[in-house]
Amino acid sequence: MIPNTNYNQLKDSYLFSEIAKRVAEYSNLNPEKEIIKMGIGDVTLPLCNAVVEAMKHAAEDLGKAETFHGYGPEQGYDFLREKIKDYYAENNVELDLNEIFISDGAKSDLGNILDILGKDNTVLIPDPVYPVYVDTNIMDGRNIIYADANESNGFLPMPDYSIKADIIYICSPNNPTGAVYNKEQLQKWVDYAISNNSLILFDSAYEAFVADKSLPRSIFQIEDAKKCAIEFCSLSKTAGFTGVRCGYTVVPNGLVFSDMKLNKLWLRRQTTKFNGVSYIVQKGAEAVFSEEGRRQIAENIMYYRENANIITNTLSEIGIKFYGGINSPYIWLKCPDNMGSWEFFDKLLYSAGVIGTPGAGFGKNGDKYFRLTAFSSRENTQKAMLKLKNLID
Ligand code: MLT
Repeated sequence: MIPNTNYNQLKDSYLFSEIAKRVAEYSNLNPEKEIIKMGIGDVTLPLCNAVVEAMKHAAEDLGKAETFHGYGPEQGYDFLREKIKDYYAENNVELDLNEIFISDGAKSDLGNILDILGKDNTVLIPDPVYPVYVDTNIMDGRNIIYADANESNGFLPMPDYSIKADIIYICSPNNPTGAVYNKEQLQKWVDYAISNNSLILFDSAYEAFVADKSLPRSIFQIEDAKKCAIEFCSLSKTAGFTGVRCGYTVVPNGLVFSDMKLNKLWLRRQTTKFNGVSYIVQKGAEAVFSEEGRRQIAENIMYYRENANIITNTLSEIGIKFYGGINSPYIWLKCPDNMGSWEFFDKLLYSAGVIGTPGAGFGKNGDKYFRLTAFSSRENTQKAMLKLKNLID
């Protein structure tokens, strides 16, 4: 038996596991010290009431013979897919129901989609980037090239026609930098993909944080994107589903490569390897799109936005340069005193008990940067900023 030797090319541990390991070491050494978590983008507000009530009813349904549900459709229940279809229609994106696939979150589907894409494709990934794109392609042994995202391009790299990429990853609003592509910029990526016969994998997990109405929330708001893009979205950050697990992937019927229809391949893949998301979770997800649910999650997003404001105001006050935090829950700051990002991570942890995410974990261009999330509680965000101020001032 030969294991997948591509795993030898991976770093020892996944970024957030490495952070958790370092924090555990610190806690063992300093058991009495308080820790404020602003590292992994995990939400702190509880599920909104509309979702909780819907899940309770769904659990009761399962307890009665007349309303019991066993295996559901692998691609998700129509009641939820209809809601997602309507949600897209609000931004003038028309989807067919069969283009929407319900999943247990964007991370799984971003990895799983590679099952239907050949291993000989060259993959273009921005740097810095959400590490899942890189690691899942290393696992499959694909050739990866990087698009530099840096201060000179506002952390929004644009296509370079001298480079031939078959698969292109775009995340907007971006994790980790918080940068957001406008429509003209995304149109350039779509034009490039079409002229190169490439596929864009568009991660829109943070779309709910787009406040500026002129910015696109979906790549399908861009002309011709349905000919060249798959979109991954999640309710994790939108509605606090990080623990509940529910997302959706849109695979347009118009995606045809080498006479193969990607929607058909994905359906075949899902029906073979996935038994769908639980009925209870999908009922909770349906409630996210109800009028009441929309109102309640909007309040939560406002809360996180205000946290982002507190962070960016503090950074401005103490003269630390930053990006993001406006249409995104992430604030990407430049480490003070030209420090490396792991160095700053240790300093912030050991001197202030605050955890962030070192930029180097997202790629080489992240080395002098650091990511903070707006997903902490208000109290902890305020406390952390006070500690940061004391440390820097
Ligand atoms: C992050 O912190 O980058 C995200 O929470 C990771 C994820 O969504 O899987």
